[in-house]
Amino acid sequence: MGQYQKIKGTQDFYGVTANKLRTIEMVSSKVAKTYGFKEIITPIFENSNVFIKNVGEESDVVKKEMYTFKDKGGRSITLRPEGTAAVARSFIENKMYANPGMTKYYYYGPMFRYERPQTGRYREFNQFGVEAYGSDSPLLDSDIILSGYNIFKSLGIKNVVLHINSIGDAASRLNYSSFLQTYFKEYIDSMCIDCQRRLTTNPMRILDCKVDKENIAIKNAPNITDFLTNESKEYFSNVLKTLDALEIPYIVDTRLVRGLDYYTDTVFEFVINSNDELNGLALGGGGKYANLINSMVGKNVSGIGYAFGLERISAVMDKQNAWKDLETITDCVILGLDDESKISAMLLSNELRCKGLTVEMDYASTKLKPQFKLAERVNCKYIIIIGEEERKTGLYMVKNTVTKTQKKISKDKIYEYIEEEK
Ligand code: HAM
Repeated sequence: MGQYQKIKGTQDFYGVTANKLRTIEMVSSKVAKTYGFKEIITPIFENSNVFIKNVGEESDVVKKEMYTFKDKGGRSITLRPEGTAAVARSFIENKMYANPGMTKYYYYGPMFRYERPQTGRYREFNQFGVEAYGSDSPLLDSDIILSGYNIFKSLGIKNVVLHINSIGDAASRLNYSSFLQTYFKEYIDSMCIDCQRRLTTNPMRILDCKVDKENIAIKNAPNITDFLTNESKEYFSNVLKTLDALEIPYIVDTRLVRGLDYYTDTVFEFVINSNDELNGLALGGGGKYANLINSMVGKNVSGIGYAFGLERISAVMDKQNAWKDLETITDCVILGLDDESKISAMLLSNELRCKGLTVEMDYASTKLKPQFKLAERVNCKYIIIIGEEERKTGLYMVKNTVTKTQKKISKDKIYEYIEEEK
C-alpha cells in the first residue's frame, strides 16, 4: 500500500484545492508588485549551511526540523525550510548588493519542515514571501507590514490581528541574553535537555521552547523590551507611529520573539482570531534582519520581509467563505445592443484592458438576455450597457452588480469611476 500513500504531513492539491493555492499566489503577487517587488525563484534545495548558518544553529527549524541528506557526491543538502536564507544566499551570490538603491523580491513555493502534523501544520507547505534589502528606515518596516495587510484585504480575509514587537539591535540582544543566562541558571534543572544546552548556546531560544512553555521561570522572565537600547526604542516607536498614521491596527506583543535567529528590531506576525480550531494560528510572520547580509558582504545591507502560509490562508478563507468575493476576477462585461454599439464596446474594452481591468463581452448577440447571462456566469462587478442612445450622448450605463446601483457615466470617465469605487 505504501507505494500509493503520500508521506505523512504532505498533501495532494487537485482541481479546486490547487486552484485555491494558485489564486492566493496570484492575488498576493499582484499586491506585492504594486510595492515594487519582482519575482525570484531559487532552488528547492540548498547546501545545508545556507540554513544552518543563517536561520541559526539553535533554532528548532535547524535543530529538529530540517530535511537534510547526503547526495551521491557526499554533500550535505537540505530541502528549504524557509525562503529568507535562500534568497539572501542568492542576493549575495549574484552580487545584488552592488545595485544602487533597494532590491525587492517576492517568491512562492513549497517549504519543508519535519514537524508534528496538526491543524495548519504540515511537513510540506507552501509559502508566499517577500524580502526587501537596502534601507534601514523604520518607514520601510511599516510599508512592508502594510503590503502584507493589503494582501489579506485583497483576499477578503477578516479578523487578522497584527502582533508586533521589537527584539532590539545586536547590543540590546546581548544585554538581554546575558541577563537571561543568569536568570535561568537557578531554574535550569527543571527544564528540558534542549533548554539546558540553550542556556549556554542561545538563552533567548529558551523563551520559545515548546516543551517548557508552561514553566513558571519562562512565564515570569522579563521581556526583551526592558533591555532595548535607546536607538532600538526610538526605531520601534517610529514604526508604530507610521502604523498608527496608516490606521493599521496592531497589538504590541512583548512575548513575540520569533523562532528564527536572524531577526533584529521589528518582528511581527499576522494571527487569525476565530472561534474554531484555527484560532491563534499565525497566517504569516516576518521581521527585520539588519545583520544577516552584513556579516557576509562586509557592507551595511539591512533586510526585512515576511512569509505567509498558503494552506493556513486557504483554510481561513474556507471558514470565512471568502472565495466568493475573489470569484469576481472579471471587472466588467460590456453589452452592445446593436452592431454599431458592439464596436463601441470593443473600443471601450480595449481601453479598459490596456489600463489593467479584466473585461469580457459577448460577440454573438445584441440581445440583452444572453449578454446578461454572460455577465452572471463570469460574476463581474460592473455591467456597462451601450445602445443607440448611449452612443449619441456618450453617456454609458454602468451597473454595479454588488451594490445594485446604476449610473450614466461619460465614456471617457468610466475607468476613473471604477477605480474610485475600488
Ligand atoms: P515562519 O514564521 O517560520 O517565518 O513561517 C511563516 C509562515 O509560514 C507561518 O506564519 C505559517 O503561516 C507558515 N508555516 C510555517 N511552518 C508551517 C508548517 N509546518 N505548516 C504550514 N504552514 C507553516 C519564515 O519562514 C520566515 N522566513 C519569514 C520571513 C521572511 N522573515 C523575514 N522574511
